[in-house]
Amino acid sequence: MRCIIHDGEAGLGGVKLAERDVPEPGAGELRVKLRAAALNHRDIWTVLGRTPDEPAVILGSDGAGVIDALGPRVEARVEARVEAKVEAKLGQEVVINPGLGWLCKNDAPPEPGYPGLVLGYPDDGTLAEYVVIPAGNVAPKPRHLSWEEAAALPLVGLTTYRALFTMGGLKAGDWVVIPGIGAGTSIQALIFAKAMGARVAATSRSPEKLEKAKGFGADAVFPSDSAWADRLRELTGGLGADLVIESVGKATWDQSLACLRLGGRLVVFGSTSGDLVELDLVSVFIRWISIIGTTMGSAEEFAEMMAFSNAHGIRPVVDRVFPLEEGVEALRYLDGATQFGKVVVKIAD
Ligand SMILES: NC(=O)c1ccc[n+]([C@@H]2O[C@H](COP(=O)([O-])OP(=O)(O)OC[C@H]3O[C@@H](n4cnc5c(N)ncnc54)[C@H](OP(=O)(O)O)[C@@H]3O)[C@@H](O)[C@H]2O)c1
Repeated sequence: MRCIIHDGEAGLGGVKLAERDVPEPGAGELRVKLRAAALNHRDIWTVLGRTPDEPAVILGSDGAGVIDALGPRVEARVEARVEAKVEAKLGQEVVINPGLGWLCKNDAPPEPGYPGLVLGYPDDGTLAEYVVIPAGNVAPKPRHLSWEEAAALPLVGLTTYRALFTMGGLKAGDWVVIPGIGAGTSIQALIFAKAMGARVAATSRSPEKLEKAKGFGADAVFPSDSAWADRLRELTGGLGADLVIESVGKATWDQSLACLRLGGRLVVFGSTSGDLVELDLVSVFIRWISIIGTTMGSAEEFAEMMAFSNAHGIRPVVDRVFPLEEGVEALRYLDGATQFGKVVVKIAD
């Protein structure tokens, strides 16, 4: 089968199109014949962080396709995981949950034993014609989505669903601020928040992306380099935002904290522009601020996210589709950060 691997030198220079044997599912696993996959910033962190002595890996966490083989004992595994409402039948059209080994909705993954793994490194991922995954890691493909849209939903959908609702407690009428709206996660957070009936403020370095965000329902938009925390406070009658969804990191951190209301919450799951920030502790405790870290989410939240998406007819935003043969160009395009929404790789018709 054709696939996009990372091998050898660290960085995008080590990404290449390759041929591999079609993998066979083991006990409790199934195989998906992929129709589309989607990229995430994680793919870039992965290739930057790998060393030349590591074995080659097929990249990609997100995908959608058709179940074409079941390993032994799949039925028993699926039955034991009914809480995740798993469907695993031959010929079933599915989307893939990229989170491995975290079943139930908790403040944090269960310890001990949680491997904290995500499909696409160290396990082979979805930028391939076939992928083998645990049988519990699929959900029926929403009928209202194209293959490209279905592939774009899982990772950003799970991450932002947990960040907004499980950890952020977002309710209808709340103000949520989403810095860096060009990110795949950010635009998905905007769409979910509007479906919940919340009010959304977005920031971006790009005027075009701010215009597009308005088209997706953003109630207020601000250039990233403006004094947007002050403007948000004015807009909310001096109160500030109920929630901030942070994934930009250093570049927006100070204003993200400053724009919160007393008792507001900042949920952080990424730091694209830099990990290290200065924190004025007084401004945190004297304003009763909560800073909450999270990562993608559990199988239970994945099922909730899919149900929410089906109920609200949620469509992820696809910026651009590349054929599998151009997977390397697709990653370079994502690295350039000009996208608005998801970069998708089409694998088969
Ligand atoms: N922990 C988890 O489970 C998890 C899950 C998903 C994502 N993440 C992380 O979340 C982050 C977002 O990921 P993604 O794939 O959705 O998007 P992405 O491709 O990393 O996009 C990041 C966005 O941040 C903004 N940005 C980047 N550098 C900036 C700077 N110097 N100043 C101001 N804004 C800047 C840009 O928005 P504008 O172009 O609009 O300015 C850009 O589009 C990544 O760090 C990713 O690793 C973590």
